[in-house]
Amino acid sequence: MDTLAPEAVGRHLKGRFGKPYLYEPECESTQAALLEGDFPEGAVCVTDHQTAGRGRLGRHWVEAAGTSVLVSVVLHPPPGGRPQELSLVAGIAAAEAVEGATGLSAQVKWPNDVMLNRSKVAGVLAEMRGHVVVVGIGINVNQTRQQLPGDAKTPAGSLRTIVGATHDRAALLGSLLYRLERLYDGWRHGGLTDIYTELGARDFLRGRRVTVDGVSGTAVMVDREGRLLVDAGHGDVRVVESGDVQYVR
Ligand code: BTN
Repeated sequence: MDTLAPEAVGRHLKGRFGKPYLYEPECESTQAALLEGDFPEGAVCVTDHQTAGRGRLGRHWVEAAGTSVLVSVVLHPPPGGRPQELSLVAGIAAAEAVEGATGLSAQVKWPNDVMLNRSKVAGVLAEMRGHVVVVGIGINVNQTRQQLPGDAKTPAGSLRTIVGATHDRAALLGSLLYRLERLYDGWRHGGLTDIYTELGARDFLRGRRVTVDGVSGTAVMVDREGRLLVDAGHGDVRVVESGDVQYVR
């Protein structure tokens, strides 16, 4: 089985993120380990299998051992910013990394999913402790169709099920961390400004019929504060801060 142990990933780490590199072959959740201690920005926790992986809104994140990229990263955003935007920043980083590995264009489904060929291949969970944000990213890489949840509201895919080939998880993790660092530095400097155009180009929901947070309508765009604008009809555009989006394919 391939591994995300430091011996395998070290040569793919090109920037600040990934230091220190905490690795366990198996753990409950990479989020938990980082939320409990005091770690510098860029510290990561990585595993090949989670026994209690956490998803958004109290859901579970389940994967077969040795198939995924499972990583959490410590960020120390400056006070007074909008740390909730970091889900989008991480989502774009994951979309770029997936795109780099597959050569296919990947989208971000607000607020935190990465879509490839209309299937969810990655999810982001951002949790805060004080001023520290721990951003967790799970990418479905080498799962077979049978190893993916069949009952998810948003259909799940892996890079393998979509491309038809397995991928190097260690290289993908290195690419993800490098892209996240670059995008995060840009966000620290100017919020979503630098990545706003890219966000618009990757917006999976734009133009789709959606229901979110009690609002039904057509998704217009993600605004510069990272909120979803939904046209409920006749020019009645609602601003949605957060929520779980149902959409029509
Ligand atoms: C979601 O789509 O609901 C978010 C899923 C986030 C999963 C990742 S895997 C690495 C990190 N550790 C966790 O327990 N969750 C995140």
